[in-house]
Amino acid sequence: MPINKIAILTSGGDAPGMNACIRAICLACEHDGIETIGYKHGFNGLLKQDWRTLSAADVYNLIQRGGTILYSARCEKFRTNDGVALAAKNLDENTVDALIIVGGNGSFMGAEHLQKFWNKPVIGIPATIDNDIAGTDFTIGFHTAIQTAVESIDKVRDTAEAFERIFLVEVMGRDAGYIALDSAICSGSDHVLVPELFTSAAEELVKILDKLDARRKNNANSSHIIVITENLWPGGLNVLADSLVSETGFDVRVLTLGHVQRGGSPVSKDRMLATRLGTYAVESILKGETGVMVGETHTKPVLVDLETTRTKNKNLNHYSVDILEKITRLG
Ligand code: F6P
Repeated sequence: MPINKIAILTSGGDAPGMNACIRAICLACEHDGIETIGYKHGFNGLLKQDWRTLSAADVYNLIQRGGTILYSARCEKFRTNDGVALAAKNLDENTVDALIIVGGNGSFMGAEHLQKFWNKPVIGIPATIDNDIAGTDFTIGFHTAIQTAVESIDKVRDTAEAFERIFLVEVMGRDAGYIALDSAICSGSDHVLVPELFTSAAEELVKILDKLDARRKNNANSSHIIVITENLWPGGLNVLADSLVSETGFDVRVLTLGHVQRGGSPVSKDRMLATRLGTYAVESILKGETGVMVGETHTKPVLVDLETTRTKNKNLNHYSVDILEKITRLG
């Protein structure tokens, strides 16, 4: 089937590097004489015929910009058959030959759903700061989010030290501990709590107290940083803070890093991944692929069934977990 027009959309939580990815797709298409359009506001653009043309001039000076020029959204109506059937009709009306969806797990479920109603190529590109998509070592945006979290923790450490406080730093990740684990290692934090390894509040509190004790004895630490994935501690982080105050006598503060982790100019690793995957997505469409995510494992491009990305859990990197266990005991 000839490919004359490829459409792109960005969906779900935005991630630094989405713009670099749009740029790569657009330039790869232009190289092969393919027209590119971008639907706006995620799947909503497909439903409302809200789109724009994308040419090389439109993606000039874009590789370094955070956010997404196509805007992003989550779209409830895309969960319904009526919504998806309308999207398929609109794609045909626009004579689109293939669709590239740049987003996370939720967006890939939308992609799978669309395939039941539209028989042209649909390709997913993994972009989420959470790095929680099975089948690819990294997702676009993850490295920038880590950099942002680490820079923030470095700053917090200065004030924590000055006041000899414990800081509980909450990072994003939804149900995945990748951001917490890597930012804790890179900031030299004292402890990390991630959903994949969490047992119960009572057990985790014992582990925290034990760790803080060991650090003080070995290191004469005067402040402590504990990094925690969002929504993890039962009742919220103020509950943990109260327990730590009464158990240690330390002053404790809670810091929620929040959406700053999603912003900013993408670091080089994210620009590189976005550029490689955007280009590879176009190549894959031209080779007749559909229903797959383009990803990378061990720096090599891979194609993974969209269904696999949904049904398989991505385990934490146990190499990193072991490292953290060894180095945080002694400081
Ligand atoms: O999936 C990316 C993410 O930033 C998660 O880490 C977080 O739980 C969620 O999106 C926040 O979503 P929203 O921007 O809708 O509050």
